[in-house]
Amino acid sequence: MCGIFGYCSFLQEKDRKTVCDILVNGLARQEYRGYDSAGIGIDGDKPGEMYFFKEVGKVAGLRKKIAESDVDTSKTFISQVSIAHTRWATHGPPSVVNCHPLKSDPDAHFIVVHNGIVTNAVALRLVLQKRGYKFESETDTEAAAILTKYIYDSQTGKKPTFTELVKQVLHELEGSFAFVFKSSHYPNEVVTARRGSPLLIGVKTEKKLKVDFVDVEFAGPESDAKSNSALAPPTSPSGLLAPPSNPGMLRSQSRAFMSEDGLPQPIEFFIASDAAAIIEHTKRVLYLEDDDIAHISGGELHIHRLRRNEEGGAPQAQHRTIETLEIELAEIMKGKFDHFMQKEIYEQPESVVNTMRGRVNFDQARITLGGLRAYLNIIRRGRRIVFCACGTSYHSAIATRAIFEELTEIPVSVELASDFLDRKTPIFRDDVCVFVSQSGETADTILALRYCLERGALCVGVVNTVGSTISRETHCGVHINAGPEIGVASTKAYTSQYIALLMVALQLSEDRISLTERRNQIIQGLHALPGQIKRVLDGDKGFQELATGVLANQRSLLLMGRGYQYATCLEGALKIKEISYMHSEGILAGELKHGPLALIDENMPVIIVMTQDSLYPKVQSAYAQITARKAAPIIICNEEDEGIPKGCQTIRVPSTVDCLQGLLNIIPLQLLSYHLAVKNGFDVDFPRNLAKSVTTE
Ligand code: UD1
Ligand code: M6R
Repeated sequence: MCGIFGYCSFLQEKDRKTVCDILVNGLARQEYRGYDSAGIGIDGDKPGEMYFFKEVGKVAGLRKKIAESDVDTSKTFISQVSIAHTRWATHGPPSVVNCHPLKSDPDAHFIVVHNGIVTNAVALRLVLQKRGYKFESETDTEAAAILTKYIYDSQTGKKPTFTELVKQVLHELEGSFAFVFKSSHYPNEVVTARRGSPLLIGVKTEKKLKVDFVDVEFAGPESDAKSNSALAPPTSPSGLLAPPSNPGMLRSQSRAFMSEDGLPQPIEFFIASDAAAIIEHTKRVLYLEDDDIAHISGGELHIHRLRRNEEGGAPQAQHRTIETLEIELAEIMKGKFDHFMQKEIYEQPESVVNTMRGRVNFDQARITLGGLRAYLNIIRRGRRIVFCACGTSYHSAIATRAIFEELTEIPVSVELASDFLDRKTPIFRDDVCVFVSQSGETADTILALRYCLERGALCVGVVNTVGSTISRETHCGVHINAGPEIGVASTKAYTSQYIALLMVALQLSEDRISLTERRNQIIQGLHALPGQIKRVLDGDKGFQELATGVLANQRSLLLMGRGYQYATCLEGALKIKEISYMHSEGILAGELKHGPLALIDENMPVIIVMTQDSLYPKVQSAYAQITARKAAPIIICNEEDEGIPKGCQTIRVPSTVDCLQGLLNIIPLQLLSYHLAVKNGFDVDFPRNLAKSVTTE
């Protein structure tokens, strides 16, 4: 949801074309996050001048617009700062005027790109309008840009540093966001800050960095006193009209960027919401924490804090580590596939192995999750386990709930994060709360996590993205190691989350001798899984024929099953509605008689999941109920099942242990949804109205 990209080069001659290409590529790498317009702001020909390119629709359109413009693309810069953004409309429709970067005024003294939402933007807009400032967009972001100019213009005497100025702006803003500011008053400087929305900075130098961390520069108490609100009368002697009061700022040197000989060294910085945009330039990155303000100027990066280190509060880290990214560019490229979703579905035989790698010892039938080792006993002693997640991640928790209860004998509840928060669910110190998220940045899940942290529960993350907010804010957890997932429709993350949760349950139960046989059976099942997934993928042609045949022109599709397969139906239906825009519903077969049966007639397409487990007879009875009402369901069943009535349309899958069967059954449904979308010409990787990472509530 929205993507930020910033590029700063210092003592490195770059022509304008190169700068634009770097910006547009940075946006293209983040397209998967979901957006509806894109824009860039770059240095102009004269000092203090800026040029903007903005386009509604795809990044490719923006690229074309830049290529067709008559700006001098050969102009070179020794040092420059430029910013770019993909916008997912929240305040005001997708349009060139609402597209970022947004300006503080027609002369663009300050320009801003922004992810997230400023919740007090309406109040700020009113105050600023009263003071004569003109708005041209409907966005909340413009209020931040104009507020910056207002604060700057109001300061008499010595003007603040760029960091001090942004700090004052941030003190006035409510909500959760990530920002990058650029200004003609501060040439070749950029300030970026986050509160609740991810941001990272890539660093590229020819020489090795001296140290692999950057000191955090904490403000003194004076600078931290929250200035009077912008809503206060303009005659107020203090507050925003007062000169900057920042004598207490500690300015320790940013050691990482000093060259051995004390001379400034050529350096490039890349600011982004996602590592995928940085990886092609450098693997050295630094993740910003909430309330960090990063200032890049003169080839140095300084990290400041919005608030001072509060007395009595938890101690704050004194530095931010420059980490080395482990992902490869190839992992975020489509390769031989037509779409990321297709690539990710096909990656599952390997991604499930990566989830288990180093954690499952098949010879000894043992599981070792390094991230949970120290917490196992606390979890075992917990009064209950509460899973909290959204969308597909929620389905992975539904899929594994039964095996969790069976193996741990701890009561388990599964919560949709938004509803969990709406209900203000009671949470206690002896609860164990598990937050499942591919991105680790889903706003509802993060808020639910913070709610549980405040109440003293043990918070466990099951997350794909290392360094994400959920991964960092949980007490402990498991990275699912599925590799970057770019397609908006989550596929390989589902199977890896499923396995990660299953491994947690297996490890928690390792002290129960009575369950040894069951555990061994499951671990053997896991061993065979990658090969079985490959076999299902081999049947893709048949799934494509279903999508272009019997299901081609349908308006609705019901998926039914029970027990472990209820999650398969929910997840299959989500995939189908999400990318093929066909109405689809996952139904618990046990509920048929309580309502959904009324939908059934010869015209209602149905898929029934009838793989062989202890509930097989009950699903047979559901099958009988719907066929008695003339439905002709497609049956997902096991390869060797001879009990399936002749003449039925079937999708055959290999058999495995009951609690693993959902991992195989979901794959035909992922592929079916993919082919339905392709057949209808829909944008598989970027379905309408959806974003990969849902960073607003
Ligand atoms: C870790 C290393 C892995 C290395 C392995 C070798 C990382 C990210 N992983 O994997 O590269 O090969 O040791 O032994 O460096 N965590 C949370 N919340 C979450 C997810 C994880 O707090 O949502 C914590 C865990 O508790 C743990 C750390 O992050 O402290 C790493 O977790 P994970 O990658 O799952 O650990 P390992 O599998 O041991
Ligand atoms: O990143 P998360 O796993 O927290 O995301 C949760 C949902 O937004 C996500 O699973 C969504 O439902 C997918 N687009 C479904 O394919």
